[in-house]
Amino acid sequence: MSVKVPPDWPTAAAYLPERGSLTALRDAAAGCRGCPLWEPATQTVFGRGPATARLVLVGEQPGDVEDRDGKPFVGPAGRLLVKALEEAGIDKSATYVTNAVKHFRFTPTPKRRIHATPDTVHVEACKPWLTAELRAIDPELVVLLGATAIRSLLGTSVKVTRDRGTLIERETTLGTKRFLVTPHPSAVLRADDREAAYSALVHDLRVAAAALG
Ligand code: URA
Repeated sequence: MSVKVPPDWPTAAAYLPERGSLTALRDAAAGCRGCPLWEPATQTVFGRGPATARLVLVGEQPGDVEDRDGKPFVGPAGRLLVKALEEAGIDKSATYVTNAVKHFRFTPTPKRRIHATPDTVHVEACKPWLTAELRAIDPELVVLLGATAIRSLLGTSVKVTRDRGTLIERETTLGTKRFLVTPHPSAVLRADDREAAYSALVHDLRVAAAALG
């Protein structure tokens, strides 16, 4: 299920605090140098939302706007996600939103910084933060937005196109957890038929809303 990590791969593990409250985790993550992505990025973008959240949403990594702002999902993909959550009847303020990777990976060009997908090595290096967030919150359901988030927590056997919109129960180091996978909101923004892709996202999120009751 999960990747077998070579012992010489980078990891954030040494940066994790002993106390695992979200505040302690956020403070410690600000100084994370666990993999090389911290250096060109502006700052660590940690998750946001209440520690009592019943639902956690996991994206890929902060984008350009998030990197500057320090908060996840505040750019174009985030706006689309908020709209879709509302339409699905999910109260955004009661959810915790985070990313599999906490630093923006990009390719610099003279005009702008272009998003670069994090490699498995970055996802694995950052996983201790994500696992610690989930341990601190203990949500009833985790929605994984796109392939990177899926890879981080469920490995490569779950495919977003095949498995989207259905509840997946998995035994994890945090106990039995329920997941739902759906495409990343950026994929909706890029889709040829944006309206259909958006409706399908809302449909998946309604399954999540129903699961929470
Ligand atoms: N895309 C993500 O996966 N996360 C963000 O925070 C922003 C865009």
